[in-house]
Amino acid sequence: MAESNTSSDGAALHGKVAVVTGTSRGVGVGIAHELLRAGATVIGCSRGELPGLPGAEDIAADRAHQWVCDQGNIDSIDGFVTRVVDTFGRIDILVNNAGGTVPTPAVEAVPELVQRIQGAPRAEDEFTRTALFHAFAIQMNLTSPLWFAVRVYRQMRTQSGMGSIINISSGASHPAGSPTLVSYGAAKSGLNHLTRSLAEEWGGHARVNCVALGPTMTDNFQSFVLPSDDPDGREYFAKVPLGRAGTPAEVGRTCVFLCSGAADYINGTTIEIDGGMMPGVLYDAGLKTITDLL
Ligand SMILES: NC(=O)c1ccc[n+]([C@@H]2O[C@H](COP(=O)([O-])OP(=O)(O)OC[C@H]3O[C@@H](n4cnc5c(N)ncnc54)[C@H](OP(=O)(O)O)[C@@H]3O)[C@@H](O)[C@H]2O)c1
Repeated sequence: MAESNTSSDGAALHGKVAVVTGTSRGVGVGIAHELLRAGATVIGCSRGELPGLPGAEDIAADRAHQWVCDQGNIDSIDGFVTRVVDTFGRIDILVNNAGGTVPTPAVEAVPELVQRIQGAPRAEDEFTRTALFHAFAIQMNLTSPLWFAVRVYRQMRTQSGMGSIINISSGASHPAGSPTLVSYGAAKSGLNHLTRSLAEEWGGHARVNCVALGPTMTDNFQSFVLPSDDPDGREYFAKVPLGRAGTPAEVGRTCVFLCSGAADYINGTTIEIDGGMMPGVLYDAGLKTITDLL
């Protein structure tokens, strides 16, 4: 019997063509690997040229691809999707994973270092810098996933069969609010809402679902969230009922489920993968690394 708790069903997505955004590192790599294990052909993307989809050589090198696409640019999205369709004939799955931000001690005055780590356009003036930081968080976590979904859906609606779109959201989207992650939380909350609306509009050709992550272990999470005096997160994860971070592979297996026939009647929902964490419990702890750096 397949080990359903440790790897994806090798046939669940056989023959499907999947696009995953943000696969140069982090959660996107785990999602791409699980889709590959489930039999899909995966075209990952990120902003820089890479020799291939990281770590996929041992899984399914013939079905794994890593191309360049900047989701902040509509021409880049359009060119990338056109190339996928020209090469593979169709797109069955889109996982809108690229995104993220950096916590900031005050919403009204974003420090230069925080803006630099997040990757927003630079500005000397504090107000301009703060405004650009928040605009960038909303662009990357709400507007760009919408752009990607619209472009891919315009392909899906021309195909036979039912497409599947998954948006990667965050526990910061919870209605309780997300101090330290204000614009990011609002954008992710918008993404959950967008998921419902698109699910209602596009039900004839695509199911649209969402996955809201709690702390998920990646290189960036280790560097920018876990405090230097608690590098394994022993104290940090004590606040999570399951006592640990999630893994990119666990997120990937949930995506496989949502794209598979097992989830044929699931549409417009948001699944939380957070170990049962209460909203908000980690905001202060998550800020410590940044405040130590400032
Ligand atoms: N890790 C967590 O604890 C956690 C918790 C909640 C939610 N999430 C969500 O999970 C998703 C992945 O997060 P992560 O932790 O894996 O982040 P990450 O390690 O920073 O990886 C982000 C990925 O997105 C790509 N990317 C960034 N900007 C892009 C752009 N403009 N166009 C195309 N690709 C771009 C990056 O590639 P390049 O920089 O090479 O372009 C990278 O591959 C995000 O949506 C995040 O909000 C993560």
